[in-house]
Amino acid sequence: MKRIAIWGGADLGRLVVKQIRAYFKEWEIVSLMDKNPDLQGVKILEYFVASPEEALSNEKEADILIICSSNYYKEIGAEAIEKYKFPEDKILFVKTSWPTGLQMHPAIRQENIHFMPLSKNLEYIKSVIAELKTSEGVLNSIGIKYGTDKASIMIMESGIRLTHDYLRHYDRLLQNIRHERKTICELGCGNGASLKMWKEYFTQAQIIGVDINTKAKAFEEERVEVICGNSTDDTTISELRKRGKFYLIIDDASHAWGDMRVSFEKLWDLLESGGIYILEDCFCGAQGSFAQYPPIVYDSQSIFDYVLSRAKIMNFCKDWNPEYNHYHFNLLPEKVKQIERELDSITIIYGACIIHKR
Ligand SMILES: C[S@@+](CC[C@H](N)C(=O)[O-])C[C@H]1O[C@@H](n2cnc3c(N)ncnc32)[C@H](O)[C@@H]1O
Repeated sequence: MKRIAIWGGADLGRLVVKQIRAYFKEWEIVSLMDKNPDLQGVKILEYFVASPEEALSNEKEADILIICSSNYYKEIGAEAIEKYKFPEDKILFVKTSWPTGLQMHPAIRQENIHFMPLSKNLEYIKSVIAELKTSEGVLNSIGIKYGTDKASIMIMESGIRLTHDYLRHYDRLLQNIRHERKTICELGCGNGASLKMWKEYFTQAQIIGVDINTKAKAFEEERVEVICGNSTDDTTISELRKRGKFYLIIDDASHAWGDMRVSFEKLWDLLESGGIYILEDCFCGAQGSFAQYPPIVYDSQSIFDYVLSRAKIMNFCKDWNPEYNHYHFNLLPEKVKQIERELDSITIIYGACIIHKR
């Protein structure tokens, strides 16, 4: 259990308190402080704001100090070091990726927050993170270790980034088959981080990665194979077909909604009965194009609309509603009709859709 002191009781401090409680369950917030006398004594999310004198010189000694001020973190850091003798390498400051004034916008999510070390030395903070137990599941710990952004945090040379936080959901779904001889496929295997994670988590499975970038071939190892190609192309799909059926298919490739739909419809047949198909980073299709990816082709139907139409028809197409059947189900392309018949459930989490096949 690490003890955290937070300096900054305004919007950013409040947000950080919430994020610490959500992402760092082994961290205990021992004090919240602010120099502004108007905030001192005010209760924010069950913590009374103290003055820095009180908070940093009392017996509740903190292991880490997090400074929550976009503009004055250097001055606050200098004061904490000089006046309160707080060790520099145990101080983090918060860097945000939104314009000031938007801190409390309800749409702001974890990805906008970075915890940066004040000193160049990240070693202490790294050792603290390494101690984090697996309260969010073993898959998340493995994901953090290899640096995939599917995990809750990513530790970089520059600091700590809060990331997508999908793995605690996946762990619940996948722990029963961890040691089975399944085949799984990830579209967009990138720099190999997630391939390494899957290999360690699934102790027996065959892991097939697909990437448009031929450099991904370098991440092949025992039980891990990489097919180079566009995940929407028939040639890539035929290669995958030769590997048999997959228990799990994750689409972390271009994130363009059109591409996601094409791959999903082409690969549905390759998903085994009872299997899981995951569409990741669904929010990307709504943003500007990614410089590192092929240009995104925009489409009027978002991936959410697409998935929700599947859910809608799955629930409305009953024999007792022949009219609905006729106008909606019967007009669907054959491929989509088949998907509808075999769909078991659709779960939408922040950023991703998890689809089960019957
Ligand atoms: C977000 S990265 C993948 C990260 C990786 N899955 C991880 O978690 O560590 C996306 C990858 O998808 C690849 N990619 C983009 N468009 C693609 C496409 N149409 N087909 C296959 N791969 C694609 C990119 O080359 C990139 O390596």
